[in-house]
Amino acid sequence: MIPLARPWTTEAEEAAVLRVLRSGWLAAGPEVAALEAGFAERTGRAHGIAVSSGTAALELVLQALDVGPGDEVLCPALTWPSPAHAIARLGARAVLVDVDPEDWNGAPEAFAAARTPATRAAIAIDQFGNPVRAAALRAALGDLPLVEDAACALGSSFADGAPCGSLGVAACFSLHPRKVITCGEGGVVVTDDGDLAERLRVLRNHGQRAPGAFTSPGANLRLSDVNAAIANAQLARLDAILDARRTHAEALRARLGAHYRLQLGPAGSRPNHQTLGALLPPGRDREMFIAAAAERGVQVGRLSYAVDRLGQVGDQGPLPNARALDERGVAFPLFPTMTIDEREKVADVLEAIA
Ligand SMILES: Cc1ncc(COP(=O)(O)O)c(C=O)c1O
Repeated sequence: MIPLARPWTTEAEEAAVLRVLRSGWLAAGPEVAALEAGFAERTGRAHGIAVSSGTAALELVLQALDVGPGDEVLCPALTWPSPAHAIARLGARAVLVDVDPEDWNGAPEAFAAARTPATRAAIAIDQFGNPVRAAALRAALGDLPLVEDAACALGSSFADGAPCGSLGVAACFSLHPRKVITCGEGGVVVTDDGDLAERLRVLRNHGQRAPGAFTSPGANLRLSDVNAAIANAQLARLDAILDARRTHAEALRARLGAHYRLQLGPAGSRPNHQTLGALLPPGRDREMFIAAAAERGVQVGRLSYAVDRLGQVGDQGPLPNARALDERGVAFPLFPTMTIDEREKVADVLEAIA
């Protein structure tokens, strides 16, 4: 079976882990500091703050922005639930906005229309690594604090060439194995705001400002040097990883574009192709489609969720584009270590069952 994704680790990652184990310093140390600097550099930001997951990154940023009960936070309706759940876990209300039918990101017009006097912040998601319409979002949201959920978008760039991760007050990345680089679990926040960075460092560390000085009942959401060392080895190879993904994605899109509705980016933007997704036509049974692909040796997965259907943030009325992608969205195999034979087989099978 050709899997949806396969993490790409090399001897560099193995050597990095060994180096940390032999150093005797396993908790956050020089590797975490290097990872934070690496993400800040890659995104053109002043600060990086490494945490235990992309979900923790989102939750800490919202917490650091003082989002809480009585607040509303705008969030795209189509997503892995982390951003909506992060809002709900702080006692605020996630107000879902529908996604654009072409780029599958929260539509700037929908964000603007959903804003009320209670709106405290907005989360924009570069869904599946596809960059948001950054300039239109900035114009639509004005002075509202914007958090970029770039969990999937390391190495992507917006239409004006700026890197994903450079939008808004802070951006959050994930290091989960389905992402472009991974260390098993992990996340990184990047920001230009020094005060916000400091609050995040305190919040991830038990709410401890200085040894013994606790300012809030905090959690431990730190990343270890073992994880960071793996992520650093991956980050050093990011351009090669992106090149391989783009080569495979372009070849697959060239063959599948005539048969499937694929995600389209804003003109001029550059996605990292974290996920190759498609929207099946109305009436097509997704489970039967997934089974037909599996019988032929190709793993196809469900694409994502319309978050209001999961039960934690309540039904929020018509969200037709998110609903369609929830019901009929699929993800196809795409990973940098795919062989050309594997890629051709994926294209052959998906053409045959289209
Ligand atoms: C859009 C989005 N945000 C946040 C996350 C959460 O990242 P993590 O799995 O590292 O907690 C994910 C993970 O799939 C995601 O896709």
